This record gives sequence, structure tokens and C-alpha cells, in this order.
Amino acid sequence: MSFFETLDLLSDDPIFSIPSLCAADSRLNKVDLSLGVYYDEKGRLTVLQCIRQAEEILLKQQLDKKYQPMDGNPEFIKQTLKLIFGENASLNEIYGAQTLGGTGALRVAGEFLRKSVGSEIFLPEPTWANHKLIFSHTDLNLNSFNYFNDETKSLEFEKICSAIQKMPSRSLIVLQTCCHNPTGVDPTPTQWKEFSRLILKHQIFPIFDFAYQGFGQDLEKDAAPIRLFHSEGHNMAVAYSFSKNLGLYGERVGLLALSEPDKNIRNCISSHIKRLIRSNYSTPPLHGSRLAATVLTSPNLRKVWIDELDAMRTRISSMRKALMDGLYDTCTGTGTNYSFLGKQKGLFSFCGLSPAQVTYLQKEFAIYMPSNGRINIANLNPSNIDYVTKALRAAFQA
Ligand SMILES: Cc1ncc(COP(=O)(O)O)c(C=O)c1O
Repeated sequence: MSFFETLDLLSDDPIFSIPSLCAADSRLNKVDLSLGVYYDEKGRLTVLQCIRQAEEILLKQQLDKKYQPMDGNPEFIKQTLKLIFGENASLNEIYGAQTLGGTGALRVAGEFLRKSVGSEIFLPEPTWANHKLIFSHTDLNLNSFNYFNDETKSLEFEKICSAIQKMPSRSLIVLQTCCHNPTGVDPTPTQWKEFSRLILKHQIFPIFDFAYQGFGQDLEKDAAPIRLFHSEGHNMAVAYSFSKNLGLYGERVGLLALSEPDKNIRNCISSHIKRLIRSNYSTPPLHGSRLAATVLTSPNLRKVWIDELDAMRTRISSMRKALMDGLYDTCTGTGTNYSFLGKQKGLFSFCGLSPAQVTYLQKEFAIYMPSNGRINIANLNPSNIDYVTKALRAAFQA
């Protein structure tokens, strides 16, 4: 007899099982477009130079390994809040806690907001698959609103506005700040302004998921929606991740920010967040937060970082353009126009592949991606772009 015999077998998150399937495929021309990480033009997952240099600085300092405060490294928190809210933002209106990546920030936010604000949460459809898992584990009631129009491959602006107007007050709404995962489609500044107005009017609580700062336009422009909401007086949460933009994936470096102008209320927020953290993992890890703080406080390293981010963004857009141009011919005859690909931002692209076409690509071409057809553009490079384009053309015409 086992105490565990009543357990059923849960499925893996496909985003982690697809790479193993691809690794087991013996075909030499296989391409894995699934996992959301940045690869260079040779298909390598490298460590950023700014991080290598920060590591050398830290090594020379021979630092201790003491416990951090429950809500993390104060210098890291201050620098990250400035990065999100702007150099001149009044940081004394915002509480920040270091978290275990962006996922950790979302999870702590979900648990805290469920107790303090309300039990209904609204997620864009589609969204990052883990949102559903994270928030269902915080006992929130999951609801969705249409985000993306499959036909026009664009934002469902009107539908989002009318969904916000129907949400009960004190609902939580999750908004991705830039480079929407999985669609690559973001609202325009004017659309953000309207969302801000409606969300304030209907007393909805916004949670910004900010995992791709610097991958859309640049560090400043990508933060604009949060800065707009902050200037318009929202109480809000930001779940921030350095996994992608500093390439610190496995170091688990993130931050949860909660804006609240009243000092006494902010102290209560801080006490609750610290209690949640203490009862879960006690304190966050040291190393990654020291690396991020070192990059952010050194003008030299910050410049190296910004140049590296620019280079990553430029490479991704050149691959996106190559894919768009390569598919363009397909539209003559079929009527499908792929110019929408050129407008999408960030690591991901939704090309409009059906689950059947995804299976076809895997079977016939050893090209792997999740069943929703999301492609990680950063996995395209000069060696595979022609092959992938040819395969996609075949899939669209199959
Ligand atoms: C939209 C979105 N939010 C949050 C995260 C969480 O990032 P992490 O927990 O790795 O920092 C990811 C990671 O893929 C993401 O795509």
C-alpha cells in the first residue's frame, strides 16, 4: 500500500516537454521554436556580457552569503522600481519586493490580492499558459476576455473595452505590458489610455505582467503603459521579470511592485507580503539580485546591457522580417497577407497555424512548437530561416 496511490498522473506543461521531444528526434534539420528564451544567431543560449562582467566584479568583492530581508535586496528593489516607473518617479509611493522570477511575483500577487482586493480575475484570451495555473492555485476565480482576433490578427480593442465595463468592481485584470505572449500584439498608446480610463472608472485592479522590457521598442517606451497608469492614480501591481532581458532565467530574479500613496496602508501591504514570503520560501536568493543591481548601478555596465538589448531586438526583427518576406509569395493565390507579422513585437509570433498544421510541421519537417502555433522568433537564424519558411509555406498550403 502507498500513501500516494490515489494520485493521478498530471500532464507536463507542454512548453517543457516539447524540447525533450525535439531532442529525441534524430532528424538533423530539426528546429525547436517552442521555449521562450533568447538564442543568438548561431542558435546558442549565451550569458550576456554585462552579466559576465558583473560576475567578475562580485567575485572580487568576496561577499558573504547571509540571508536577505524577507522582501529582498533593497538596492535591487530601488533600481528595478526606477527601471519600471522611471528615473524621476516618486518611489516612496510604491512598495517593492524581490521575488522568484516573474512567476513568483504573479503568485505572491495572486495570493495577496485574493485576500485584500477580490476573488475574480480576468485573463486575456489567449495568454501565457502559466497564468491560468498560477492564479487557479491562489484560489482566484478565473475569467477571460477576448484579446486577439484570429481573422484580422489584431487586438480586439472594442471587445476588451466592453469586457472591462462588465467586470464587477474589485475584479483583477491581467495585462501584459509589452510583447504580449503568445500573440506579439500590444495595444497602442491611445488604446492604453482608454483602458486606463475604463479600469479606473469601473474600479478594477490592474496587474501588469512585465516580462519583456526592452524587447518591444526600448526600455523606456516599453514601460510607458505602467507609467501612464501610475500617473493616472491607479492602485496597481506589477510582476516584473529579469529572466529574458538580463538572460537570468535560472537565477530566478523578479520583483513585485504595488503602488499605494498612503504610507500607513503601504506598511500594511509590506507586512502582508512579507508574511506570505516568510510562510513560503522565507527569503529570496542573493546572487541574481546582486548581479542585476550591479548592472543597474554601474553606468558602464548599463550601457553594455542596453547595447546588448538593442542587438537582441534588432536580430529578432530581422528574422521576423525575413519570415514575413519569405511567406509573402504564399499570399499570391491564397489571399493570405502576412504583413501582420511585421507589426508583432517581442520574442513571439502568432502566424495563424492551426493545431493540425503544427502536427504536420512536426511530422514532416521536424519543426516543433506549442499546439497554438506560437513561434519563438529568436530561434530563427541564418542557418534555419529558409528551411522554416519553406516548411511553413508547405503547411499553409497543405
Ligand atoms: C508573459 C510572461 N510572464 C511571466 C513570465 C515569467 O518569467 P519567469 O518566471 O521565468 O521570470 C514569462 C516567462 O516566460 C512570460 O512569458
